[in-house]
Amino acid sequence: MVQLQENPLRVGLRQERIPEPLILVIFGASGDLTQRKLVPAIYNLKRQRKLPAEITIVGVARRDWSHDYFREKMREGIEEFSDGVESEEVWDDFAEGLYYCSGNMDDAASYEKLNNFLSELDGKRGTRGNRVFYFSVSPKFFAPGIKQLGQAGMLEDPIKHRLVIEKPFGKDLSSARELNTVVQKVCKEEQVYRIDHYLGKETVQNLLVFRFANAIFEPLWNRQYVDHVQITVAENIGVGDRAGYYDSSGALRDMVQNHLMQLFCLSAMEPPNSLEADSIRSEKVKVLQATSLADINNLDKSAIRGQYSAGWMKGKPVPGYREESGVAEGSTTPTYVALKLMVDNWRWKGVPFYLRSGKRLPKKVSEIAIQFREVPLLIFPSAAKQTSPNVLALRIQPNEGISLRFEAKRPGAELRTRTVNMDFNYDSSFGAATADAYTRLLFDCMLGDQTLFTRADEVEEAWRVVTPALAAWDAPADPATVPQYEAGTWEPTEAEFLLNRDGRRWRRL
Ligand code: BG6
Repeated sequence: MVQLQENPLRVGLRQERIPEPLILVIFGASGDLTQRKLVPAIYNLKRQRKLPAEITIVGVARRDWSHDYFREKMREGIEEFSDGVESEEVWDDFAEGLYYCSGNMDDAASYEKLNNFLSELDGKRGTRGNRVFYFSVSPKFFAPGIKQLGQAGMLEDPIKHRLVIEKPFGKDLSSARELNTVVQKVCKEEQVYRIDHYLGKETVQNLLVFRFANAIFEPLWNRQYVDHVQITVAENIGVGDRAGYYDSSGALRDMVQNHLMQLFCLSAMEPPNSLEADSIRSEKVKVLQATSLADINNLDKSAIRGQYSAGWMKGKPVPGYREESGVAEGSTTPTYVALKLMVDNWRWKGVPFYLRSGKRLPKKVSEIAIQFREVPLLIFPSAAKQTSPNVLALRIQPNEGISLRFEAKRPGAELRTRTVNMDFNYDSSFGAATADAYTRLLFDCMLGDQTLFTRADEVEEAWRVVTPALAAWDAPADPATVPQYEAGTWEPTEAEFLLNRDGRRWRRL
């Protein structure tokens, strides 16, 4: 895989490149993610002719499936969760490269069998010993599986062998460190791709272009002009059928430590020296190192949790979190988290970053809002009550775009102002549907481009920032002490206070 060494990273200005022939080995092949996202993503790439003919996928799981049955299941996934197969010719060609190999994650003999099978496929498919091992299994199998791969010598070649690890990477700082130690024993950091699918979203990548390809925003992007920043990732769905996982995880681990922290890093980091993966990732680590909860001794002023209670969504009644099937009785797991972060560096000293994320909020919406300071002197006294500070809002999803809020004069004899928006909308400017995050990330991994994947030190720093809240919330507590918010409403009152106390308000989206 020569590309790993060349690695000429281009964000936005990507050169057309084709990965080397390789085998993508998916551990957890009978799971949801494989059928819904991973295989449809590869199929899309194949259809777009972005992959070499030799690309091969080997699904690994415990169940005793045949190659043909695996192919059938994957086809169902493409039909149901993607754009369908469209052309039988493309499908037949793709299906020829789909194989299945049953095995146990913690059984050495399974790895030996897999290794032999992969060598056999190298001969048959011309994949030249190049491998991407994708861990799409329950996190408890990450460490044992990676150790087994190491012992079987399957990660020995730093150029030909890559490892992709799904989230969550650990469940706190110490478990993330342990997992990094396991990984670093068997391979080099340049072989490791820790996935955070938010980094694969087009609009998240656009943040880099917006900040560093435009000269006008950078001079304003600091404590002198910015009053505060609000980062929101709101979902209207509840926990659904994922309670088994979610109840032991919660919003802080599931969304904030990874997705929101990545949005935070890209908003707050310094300009990187270049677009090289490590140049960008080092800047993210630097800003995380300077970041902490606003008050680690008083969480009421820096970290608020909440849980949805029964309410209404789209005119239908929905149960509260504790009534969802699979949720432990009296569970204290947060389905909503709001944090106030402070960054101790020259650019941001004194500027709060408020982050919030929750399930069963009124709508699905993600945005980063930079709120600027008020004008130093308001010379329009009659309009004083009507003006609002400028806000630059970067909408991640849906209606991807950017808007700038400012004041304008209302037409008429009186000098009255009104707040207006200047809007940029992705769809109307570029038309084309944006690529699915997994398609982008899998492609980058096959090309050996690590920019959109989290580095070991980055994932640990992100855990460090949230540790005081995790420690407090993991401790047994009276369920009555967990603030509730009605499903379909924005947040618990305690989270409103987090901002009101500072003389600010959450944006209504
Ligand atoms: C996943 C979380 O990582 O992200 C889910 O585990 C969440 O709980 C999902 O629903 C949200 O992703 P998106 O792309 O729909 O915003």
